[in-house]
Amino acid sequence: MKFFLDTADVGKIKAAVEMGMCDGVTTNPTIIMKSGRGQREVVREIAALVPGPVSVEGISEDADGMVKEGTEFAKWAKNIVVKVPMTKEGLKAARILEKKGIKTNVTLVFSANQALLAAKAGASYVSPFVGRLDDISEDGMQLIADIMEIFSNYEFKTEVIVASVRDPVHVVDAARMGAHIATIPPDVFEKLFRHPLTDRGIAQFKEDYAKSKK
Ligand code: G3P
Repeated sequence: MKFFLDTADVGKIKAAVEMGMCDGVTTNPTIIMKSGRGQREVVREIAALVPGPVSVEGISEDADGMVKEGTEFAKWAKNIVVKVPMTKEGLKAARILEKKGIKTNVTLVFSANQALLAAKAGASYVSPFVGRLDDISEDGMQLIADIMEIFSNYEFKTEVIVASVRDPVHVVDAARMGAHIATIPPDVFEKLFRHPLTDRGIAQFKEDYAKSKK
């Protein structure tokens, strides 16, 4: 299973890369806005740091505009992946970009049929947003289970990125379901390391070492 970081925080990406825990990065316009930096500048810096794919998203709504934007993004670095929205125009753009050798990530996916369409369009990645489904009282991880079941029936090249991850349970469930990738925000990534019994065990061993015969 691959871990992507869902952030444009270069410091946090660097730290995760150094631990061998960051296989890629995903961004969107909101994430870029929160970084306080320009998209081109920050994405190019991230792409140079990360060994794997770095997703970047434009704002065009028509296929021609998306292809134009995507072609420009792809010049920034070899590992750029172009995010396109899950619309007819987005799928048209994904097909054209993939044919040009530019990898795409179909984003804002909320149903199994949408994931199937993205796979049929030849996208390299599909991003179902689990947290936003949970937010409206739907079961985000059930969607991942459905997509994984459907994809296992065929030979699609498309990899599933579990996106809109909100807590460590999303990550463990994604792994149990065999999802290819989870894109994880830094605060959730930190939580993956922690367990109160680990902390308590370390403290106890330290205490007992101090009391033992020297
Ligand atoms: O990058 C797309 C996705 O992960 C956004 O998550 O938390 O804004 O629903 P969120």
